[in-house]
Amino acid sequence: MKSISIIEQANKVMTDKSKQDNIYSKPQSNIAGFTFDENVARVFPDMIKRSAPGYEPIIDMICMLTRHYVRPNSNCYDLGCSLGAATLAIRHGIHVPGCRIIAVDNSASMLDKCRTIIDRDKAETPVELMCADIRDIEIRNASVIVLNFTLQFIDPSDRLSLLQKIYDGMMPGGALILSEKIVFENPQKQSLLTELHLAFKKFYGYSDLEISQKRTALENVLIPETVNTHINRLKKAGFSRAEHWFLCLNFASFIAVK
Ligand SMILES: C[S@@+](CC[C@H](N)C(=O)[O-])C[C@H]1O[C@@H](n2cnc3c(N)ncnc32)[C@H](O)[C@@H]1O
Repeated sequence: MKSISIIEQANKVMTDKSKQDNIYSKPQSNIAGFTFDENVARVFPDMIKRSAPGYEPIIDMICMLTRHYVRPNSNCYDLGCSLGAATLAIRHGIHVPGCRIIAVDNSASMLDKCRTIIDRDKAETPVELMCADIRDIEIRNASVIVLNFTLQFIDPSDRLSLLQKIYDGMMPGGALILSEKIVFENPQKQSLLTELHLAFKKFYGYSDLEISQKRTALENVLIPETVNTHINRLKKAGFSRAEHWFLCLNFASFIAVK
């Protein structure tokens, strides 16, 4: 499978024990709000695999979805690219000429490491890395745009205008792949899936202390929404089709087509 090699490329840079996420393993008297700083960038592949159920299959599918939607002489965007796992999935999905990938993140620590990983990859499509806020960049002539677990970190009041800008910058038939942690309207379902997400993190070795300290750090930083909120907003932004195509516990992915 394609993403195994993509994730392995990231892992080649990040395999030793010092790259394992133990950021919240010691009690902290004051837990600061979560940021994508150097400490997080150093352990990010380990952190996301052990925290986000479905992350690896979604990366696989970004490759396949890119192959389906990419058009010759168009731009592909990876918004909130972190270390570039989705960027590489896009790159390996492109099979048409004249494309360019623009990978954007506002964390300089992430982008530094992303550059090393992208440089080791030998695929041909040029990748431009941009250190910027995705709310400020220009988007144009796009056939594929990926927001893989990034929108959840954007202030909810800015989410519709960002999606409208994405829609405006897309060519007809272009696709947005949007992955997010979600919440459920039904309180019993929400409670069960929260319990199972906790079990997922414990299964992958996080302690109760790590889980609870990270939850505090993410409060008011990662703001999840329901499937209906996402679908309705994608339609409001102008997308003619918006569907929920993947769910693993409380982590979902959507596809929206212009
Ligand atoms: C959960 S990570 C995304 C993971 C990545 N897309 C992947 O598939 O591996 C969220 C990323 O979004 C970036 N980010 C958050 N808010 C941003 C913003 N306003 N502009 C640009 N990047 C942002 C963070 O720095 C972080 O690297």
